[in-house]
Amino acid sequence: MHLTVAITGASGAILGRELLRALEADERVTRVHFVASENSLRVLAEELGVSGRNDVVEKLLSSKIKKIIQHADADIGAAIASGSHPSNGMIILPCSMGTLAAIALGLADSLIARAADVTLKERRPLILCVRETPFNRIHLRNMTLAAEAGATIFPCIPAFYNHPEGPEEMARQFAYRVLAHLGLQQPGAYVWKAEEQGPGTRD
Ligand SMILES: Cc1cc2nc3c(=O)[nH]c(=O)nc-3n(C[C@H](O)[C@H](O)[C@H](O)COP(=O)(O)O)c2cc1C
Repeated sequence: MHLTVAITGASGAILGRELLRALEADERVTRVHFVASENSLRVLAEELGVSGRNDVVEKLLSSKIKKIIQHADADIGAAIASGSHPSNGMIILPCSMGTLAAIALGLADSLIARAADVTLKERRPLILCVRETPFNRIHLRNMTLAAEAGATIFPCIPAFYNHPEGPEEMARQFAYRVLAHLGLQQPGAYVWKAEEQGPGTRD
C-alpha cells in the first residue's frame, strides 16, 4: 500500500505520531508520503517538544525511518499533488478546522489541501480526523460538505471502553482504529468481545 499522511495544526500531535509509528512498522505499507503543515510545527513543539521543519518523522519516532518521505506543504509539485500518482488513500491526523475548510471548499492552495482534493476526485479514501471543541456551524457545515464529497469524518474522539493505561495507549488505539478503517488491522488493537468473533480477531 502507498498512503499519504498529513499532520495539521490541531491539538493531538500524539495521535499523528502513533499513526506514523504503526505505518513505519507495518510491512503491508511500502511507502508513506508525509506532510506537516506550517502551523502543525508550532503544535508539535508545544505538545511533543519536537522543533524544526526538517526530519520531522525521525524526530517524532526518535529513530531512522525507511519508508516515510516528507514533503513541504508549499511543494505543490510533489508527486501526491497529481492523481496520476498511485495512492491507496490519505489520512489527516489531526485535521484542523482551517484545513477542513480548505478541503470542503476545494481550495487546493497547499500540498495538503491539493493532495486531499486529488484523493477525493480520484475516489480514493480520505480520512479527516478533525479536532476542535465545541464545533461552530461553519465547522459542522464543512464536515458535511467534505463527507458529501466522499471524505470520512473520523473525529479525534478516543475510546474508553478499552481501559487505556495512559495518553500514549489511548493515542495508539485511536491510530489503530483509523488504520482498521483502511483495512490495516494492527496487532495489539483492542477488539470488543474478540472471543465472540472467532480466531484471529484477538489482536
Ligand atoms: C497549541 C495549539 C492548539 C490548537 N488546537 C487546535 C485544534 O484543536 N483545532 C483547530 O482547528 N485548530 C487548532 N489550533 C489552531 C490552528 O493551528 C490554526 O487554525 C491554524 O491556522 C491551522 O492551520 P493548518 O490547518 O494549516 O495547520 C491550535 C493552535 C495551537 C497553537
